[in-house]
Amino acid sequence: MRRKVSVIGAGKVGATTAHLLALKGLADIVLVNRTEGIAQGVALDIRESLPIEGSDVNIVGTGDYSKISGSDIVVVTAGAQRKEGMSRDDLLKTNAQIVSAIAEQIKQHAPNSIVIVVSNPLDAMAYLVMKKTGFDRKRVIGMAGALDSARLTAFIAEELKVTPKEIKTMILGSHGDSMVPVISATTVNGYPVSKLIGPERLQSIVSRARDGGAEIIKLEGSSAFYAPASSVVSIIDSILNDRKKVIPCSVYLEGEYGIKGTFLGVPIAVGKGGIETIETMPLSSDESKALSESAAKIAVQLPVLSGI
Ligand code: 2OP
Repeated sequence: MRRKVSVIGAGKVGATTAHLLALKGLADIVLVNRTEGIAQGVALDIRESLPIEGSDVNIVGTGDYSKISGSDIVVVTAGAQRKEGMSRDDLLKTNAQIVSAIAEQIKQHAPNSIVIVVSNPLDAMAYLVMKKTGFDRKRVIGMAGALDSARLTAFIAEELKVTPKEIKTMILGSHGDSMVPVISATTVNGYPVSKLIGPERLQSIVSRARDGGAEIIKLEGSSAFYAPASSVVSIIDSILNDRKKVIPCSVYLEGEYGIKGTFLGVPIAVGKGGIETIETMPLSSDESKALSESAAKIAVQLPVLSGI
């Protein structure tokens, strides 16, 4: 029986996620948007592309949350987007209200689903979804590190004029200014990147990846959506095909990396149950310290959410 993925929010990230899922034939899709007509229009447009693309998935758009019933996976993309000059954290109060209401609907209509959170500020929103749904931590995944790591990979490939396929890197920590690129484990064709790019140039590349979202907002006046959507679909693919692919994602830590009580980006094996394992990645002392500092920056946001 074909699997079912519901995408909440038919904005650019949600619509692109739905389109990619349809093109790959990964699942039947329900696209939900509170503004009447938008989800229906996007779904119809995608459906009309499928005869050309050779996909036969079912895709519907709706404003009715009951249609997400039976979803294997629910993707939460809804919420305000930041404008130029804003940080993701500036969205906390606004998006907490939106995401909290969505979490209640997921709890009611898709109580056995795995939730992938995209809405910002990502780590805090993922925490809110877990608290509001009451789901086991294995079933709440924040999409962040996959996107940030893809950006760093793209910039290293550009710098060295090599295929991104031979670059292994990870960005852990928050999906924000305190994210932690694990340069000590970054390789290009198996060689440590620090042997191929000088420290100053490498720092500049890392900074560009850290500010990747802001760079796109400055260029096109709105948030990124192609790379976020591809990052979400890579997680969905690993779940639906039980690949156990190791992907950096924001997850609730209960002592791993010496951190507990907050969501934070760490490497996880992603499979049919969601988080199959939390991988212990060797970090330099600086990287480990930066990870703890990143966790602390997220933790201070969480008390605001208790009253939501
Ligand atoms: C980004 O980094 C939207 O947070 C997302 O582009």
